[in-house]
Amino acid sequence: MSEKKYRVIQWATGSVGKISLQHFIENPVFELVGVLVTNPEKVGKDAGELVGLPPTGVLATDDVEKIVALDADCVHFSPLVQDIDMVCRLLRSGKNIVSPLGPVYPTEHFAADVEKIEAACKDGGTSFHGCGIHPGYVGDILPLTLTRLMDRIDRVEVFEIADKQKTPSVYIEFMGFGLDPETLLSQPNCMTGAMYAFGQSMALFVESLGKKIEDLTEKHEIATARNDIAYTGGVIRAGTVAGQHWEWTAWADGAPLITYHLYYILGNDMEPAWNLGESRHRILVEGNPSLELNLMAAPEADGHRPFLGITWTALVGCTAVPQVCDAAPGLVTHIDLGVVQPQGLVRRPQA
Ligand SMILES: NC(=O)c1ccc[n+]([C@@H]2O[C@H](COP(=O)([O-])OP(=O)(O)OC[C@H]3O[C@@H](n4cnc5c(N)ncnc54)[C@H](OP(=O)(O)O)[C@@H]3O)[C@@H](O)[C@H]2O)c1
Repeated sequence: MSEKKYRVIQWATGSVGKISLQHFIENPVFELVGVLVTNPEKVGKDAGELVGLPPTGVLATDDVEKIVALDADCVHFSPLVQDIDMVCRLLRSGKNIVSPLGPVYPTEHFAADVEKIEAACKDGGTSFHGCGIHPGYVGDILPLTLTRLMDRIDRVEVFEIADKQKTPSVYIEFMGFGLDPETLLSQPNCMTGAMYAFGQSMALFVESLGKKIEDLTEKHEIATARNDIAYTGGVIRAGTVAGQHWEWTAWADGAPLITYHLYYILGNDMEPAWNLGESRHRILVEGNPSLELNLMAAPEADGHRPFLGITWTALVGCTAVPQVCDAAPGLVTHIDLGVVQPQGLVRRPQA
């Protein structure tokens, strides 16, 4: 790696965007050149102020044209909602993109988006990399790395166990927590179709092992609050949805090869009691020799381990930026990037 600095733009400053913005300001490998916001209260504010850091001289703007016209190496694109046309505009304007909104791997379901992205990359001489904690890391490149320790693999299970009681997230409402179970099950929510987003990570894993996904199957279980549950955004009433278990399985050679379990809960006072233990990502690889990996935050002063899904989603993208900028044009997956060598991480914490 050279001593090159990478000129970066942070697009949207929500939960993920704030972590990446802070990283871009503090990591000397990056030079922050732009910040796109939609919230009128943030327009005109210094990027540093948005994340509690000293002024940077870069002011947040809601002017898309100004951002597109900037000279930058990369955009970390993390708005709430995907906008493939905007992604393609940015790619054509000569900016590489790293994004937690994907696509993370070219599957049939996202073929139209991938085709558009590939064309824009070709025109702009740029690259696009989709990643996140899950999908985009913990269910693909991480278990794939673990398979290097295996003699034979029978089945893999990846658990995301997230207690959101202490972690504010728009997803608590988006996923239908606090609804009657019948209402939740009878209407679409933000998890409708999520199997295909996670299916990209499954495809990366399965195809890297020389197999093809023959079928993708889904299960959805609900747990209800035994009593009212207070959380950072309000109260989940007794009898309403307080826990959800989404399960997706990719089948190969007529058997389940990899299963993802997504457990989102608000505390543990629910029926049935799932007794999941601490928030974490857990990978089980059954075979010879079977192994288990638990990935979790270190405990804080009160002993509580926060769920770091948002932080890790931002950082797994930021750390890939230099290699994505230096990659050949096109959609680059974890496989294309190979072993990522993050730059600028070894430094003294700022006072
Ligand atoms: N792959 C993964 O593992 C993973 C994990 C977590 C999140 N994600 C994805 O990352 C994205 C960002 O997540 P987040 O937790 O940061 O979300 P968030 O906290 O809701 O922030 C999203 C930001 O997008 C902007 N925004 C608000 N409404 C918008 C709209 N209608 N259209 C476009 N932009 C809008 C706002 O930016 P300003 O405040 O700057 O105006 C908002 O703060 C989401 O799409 C999420 O699905 C992926």
